[in-house]
Amino acid sequence: MARLTILGATGTIGRNTLDVVARHPDRYSLHALTANTDWQRMAELCREHRPAVAVMTDVDAARELATALDGETEVLAGPVALAAVAAAPDSDIVMAAIVGAAGLMPTLAAVRAGKRVLLANKEALVMSGALFMETARRYGAELVPIDSEHNAVFQCLPHPRAGGLAGAGVRRIVLTASGGPFRGWSPERLDAVTPEQAVAHPNWVMGPKISVDSATMMNKGLEVIEACWLFDALPAQVEVVVHPQSIVHSLVEYADGSVLAQLSNPDMRTPIAHALAWPERIDAGVARLDLAQLATLEFEAPDHGRFPCLQLAFDALAAGGAAPAILNAANESAVAAFLDGRLKFTTIARIIRTTLDALGGRTASDLDAVLAVDAEARTRAEREIRRSGH
Ligand SMILES: NC(=O)c1ccc[n+]([C@@H]2O[C@H](COP(=O)([O-])OP(=O)(O)OC[C@H]3O[C@@H](n4cnc5c(N)ncnc54)[C@H](OP(=O)(O)O)[C@@H]3O)[C@@H](O)[C@H]2O)c1
Repeated sequence: MARLTILGATGTIGRNTLDVVARHPDRYSLHALTANTDWQRMAELCREHRPAVAVMTDVDAARELATALDGETEVLAGPVALAAVAAAPDSDIVMAAIVGAAGLMPTLAAVRAGKRVLLANKEALVMSGALFMETARRYGAELVPIDSEHNAVFQCLPHPRAGGLAGAGVRRIVLTASGGPFRGWSPERLDAVTPEQAVAHPNWVMGPKISVDSATMMNKGLEVIEACWLFDALPAQVEVVVHPQSIVHSLVEYADGSVLAQLSNPDMRTPIAHALAWPERIDAGVARLDLAQLATLEFEAPDHGRFPCLQLAFDALAAGGAAPAILNAANESAVAAFLDGRLKFTTIARIIRTTLDALGGRTASDLDAVLAVDAEARTRAEREIRRSGH
């Protein structure tokens, strides 16, 4: 019986994880669930899944939750309790599914505790790159990716992989991208995109932030950076291809010309079940793939002109140092402003570019420096957002 903690349990990844876990009561027990403010949804999840502990980062939300649950589950509050629960010896597996930079400290706490960490929170890795991977190595944490693309690559690579990608005969990694809801839209139409349109993804049901990232293609940019760290790949070894059906989740090309791909219906329960059970396989409750009914799988090159965020991520990767952390922070600020109606969809990329230009050359070799550059980039991006005067 493996014991599980879910960071970000009320989100789409968190709830999909609970769905898979509930199908296997003989394999998994729940230690803790965490969320930020949504205590009503957390109360429902606690009643249904009966974790030992629930953590709300927001103190008022924790108070409401404790009253609603009336002692059935131990309720803790605040960021210190969140990091403590992520590292607690009562769990073996930690699902890291908090959205954004808020996930960095608890995810790192789980890594430092040497857990199997199921990594959905790509922003934590993008921000802290080398530091994150070095911590995982030092403390023996086992990282299994949840992003469907990285999970697909993980499935297509040999294990163990002595000598890195070259030792395994890998020539390149190809990440697929759906292209989001605005693929093929004219610049004029993109200029008028509303938050409601941007969060309505054609293939996936996701939280609002990653839905906007998917629409701008910044999600793919963050994933390119994530892939370089996770698989020890050079930026030149990672390519992106648009695949609107979201059936082929990514591909690995080998030196002999073989290309291995992982296919499945677009349902996050497949990578979640894979990562939970790896190297075994368990039922995920996902509909079987019907290739005859699908009939056609399309692939095309990304349109960097209309979706400049992908290139910004490649640029940040090439710049190195703190540039990926700056890119991530500026993107989080710009996406939040867009969702609040304070920024146009097409201005998101400009805010990120201006912030990267302004803070270029920063380095961040320890955690304090990463957090400082994250805060500085947010302040800078916020100034640019106010200046843009939408
Ligand atoms: N959704 C997908 O299909 C998908 C696929 C691949 C990767 N991912 C990645 O997985 C992560 C989660 O995505 P999602 O779509 O599940 O997001 P989501 O639905 O917005 O859920 C976010 C979760 O994080 C919690 N949270 C937000 N801010 C927090 C804070 N300051 N402190 C502590 N907890 C906080 C939320 O709690 P409240 O509910 O209380 O706000 C919620 O539980 C993201 O990094 C995303 O890029 C998602």
